[in-house]
Amino acid sequence: MHYGPAMHEVATLLRDAKHVVVFTGAGISAESGVPTYRSGSDGLWSRQNMERYANPRGYQRHLDDAYAWYRARAKGVSEVEPNAGHHAIARLETLVDRCDVITQNVDNLHFRAGSRGTIELHGSLREFRCDGCGFRVGWESAPDSPRCACGDVIRPGVVMFEEMLPEAAFSAARDAAVECDVLISVGTSNQVWPARELPALAQASGAAVVIVNPDLTEQPEGRGVHQIAGLAGVVLPALLQMAWP
Ligand code: OAD
Repeated sequence: MHYGPAMHEVATLLRDAKHVVVFTGAGISAESGVPTYRSGSDGLWSRQNMERYANPRGYQRHLDDAYAWYRARAKGVSEVEPNAGHHAIARLETLVDRCDVITQNVDNLHFRAGSRGTIELHGSLREFRCDGCGFRVGWESAPDSPRCACGDVIRPGVVMFEEMLPEAAFSAARDAAVECDVLISVGTSNQVWPARELPALAQASGAAVVIVNPDLTEQPEGRGVHQIAGLAGVVLPALLQMAWP
């Protein structure tokens, strides 16, 4: 496959880097069969889904349906496999001195591909919890009813709109973006604040920023930004092959 000069430049940057950050979004899992939020014909955030499932008010208002929706998603992501993109990232971690993986995804696929210590900015579907009494349970053992014994509700361990990102995770992500030599943004629309701030922070701190996405519309550009149009599961293994033949 021919990608043009950006691919060779980026392979060289990676080979020379001491500290790489990989920042991922839903597109990294698309080739595993997990729907993205805003792209493709099966995007999760239809208007109705946004209202019902994306924020705490909608979740409470449509509690039974919303709880079932999240449990079905947790089951769905447990049944697919990490793809070549996830595996390439796990391998990259063994090839550079320091590699931080920061994800907006809640699907656990980086972990299942072998990445350890991934910073999960939007939580995870692995666990459900009750904020009233602190009850926590793995998704497979979550009770059939979302009504907790304490009178509050059981909810997925993901960050919904209008909720704060986990502070320690976001702070670690910002530090990594400021300190790295190269930040690779893969499979994210880079539209959702505050996560979208990370490539901008890296760029402002003098790092090279690499965008891997089949659709480069509205992606960061400018000084120090290298855009590669393509699928994560194709581009990432090819980059590693070029950098470490
Ligand atoms: P989006 O659905 O907004 O964007 C997915 C991106 O992946 C798009 O830019 C696609 O072009 C790209 N893409 C699709 N297939 C790809 C592939 N095979 N390889 C590489 N890229 C591909 O998803 P996110 O940017 O992750 O937050 O969305 C960010 C956050 O918004 C999510 O974490 C979620 C959502 O609301 C919360 O739920 C809090």
